[in-house]
Amino acid sequence: MGVSIEIRGVSKIFEGYGEKRGLIALNDINADISPGEFVSILGASGCGKSTLLRIIAGLDAATSGTIYCGGEAVRNTDPSRGLVFQEHTLFPWMTVRGNIEFALKSTGQYREKRGEITGWLSLADLESFADSYPHQLSGGMRQRAALIRTLAVAPDVVLLDEPLGALDNFTRMTLQDELVRLWQERGSTMIMVTHDVDEAIYLSRRVILMSPRPGRVKNILDIPMGYPRDRASGDFMGFRVSILKQLEFAKNIQEDYTI
Ligand SMILES: Nc1ncnc2c1ncn2[C@@H]1O[C@H](COP(=O)(O)OP(=O)(O)O)[C@@H](O)[C@H]1O
Ligand SMILES: [Mg+2]
Repeated sequence: MGVSIEIRGVSKIFEGYGEKRGLIALNDINADISPGEFVSILGASGCGKSTLLRIIAGLDAATSGTIYCGGEAVRNTDPSRGLVFQEHTLFPWMTVRGNIEFALKSTGQYREKRGEITGWLSLADLESFADSYPHQLSGGMRQRAALIRTLAVAPDVVLLDEPLGALDNFTRMTLQDELVRLWQERGSTMIMVTHDVDEAIYLSRRVILMSPRPGRVKNILDIPMGYPRDRASGDFMGFRVSILKQLEFAKNIQEDYTI
C-alpha cells in the first residue's frame, strides 16, 4: 500500500533577516525510500529534520531539488501523505470518533471509509474511548488516536515529526510497539523524525543520519534486524554505539562495540 519517496538534491535556504539571513537549513539532501519502508531521520535539534519532512509533505517548498512521491513530483499537500506531530492535534471539542470522521470528511473519503473507523479504533485499543473527548484521555491514548486518524486518512505515506517526543519513556516504548504493529498491518511508507537514537534503531529499517549547519545527510545506515526488536540485544547495542560515534557523542566507548 505504501509508495516510494525519492529525495533528489533538496536544498532549503531561509531568506530571513539579520543573523539568520540566508540560513542554509538543508544542503543537497538525497535519499530513496522504498514503498512500505520504515525510515527514520535522526539528528540533533536544528539540523533541518522538520524542514525536510515539511517539504516531503508539500507544506513547504524546496529552494532547489525535487521530492518524488510514487514517481510524481510533490508540489502541494495531499491527503495520501499524512502528518503526525509531537503535540497531538486532535480537535478538543470533538470525540475520538468525531476526530476521525472529520478527517475523513475533510478529505472527501467519509463515504468510502466510514465503515473502517471501528476497525481502526480497535486496532489502537480505543474502542471504549470512541465517544471520549481528548481531555479525557491519557497522553499516550491521545497520540494513538492522532496516529490512527492519520493512518485512516493517509495509507500511502505517514510522516511523523517526533510524534512520541512529549511522552514519558515507558509510554513511548509501548507506543513504539504499537507503531511497529500498525505499520506491519498496513504496509504504509513511514518516515519518522526523531532525535532519539534508540527509537530510530527500534523502529526503522534504515536511519538517515543528519548533521547540522548546514543540514546534511551524514550517513544512511541499514538496520538489518527483524521485528519486533530487542532493545537489550547485543546487535541493538552495536548499532547504538555506531550511531553515537557517528554523531560524535561517544568518545570513551570501548572499540570492541564497533560494528
Ligand atoms: N520558517 C523558518 N524561517 C527561518 N528559519 C527557519 C524556519 N524553519 C526552520 N528554520 C531554521 O532552519 C534550521 C532547521 O530547522 P528545523 O528543520 O526545525 O530543524 P530540526 O527539526 O532538525 O530541529 C534551524 O536553524 C531553524 O532555525
Ligand atoms: Mg524539528
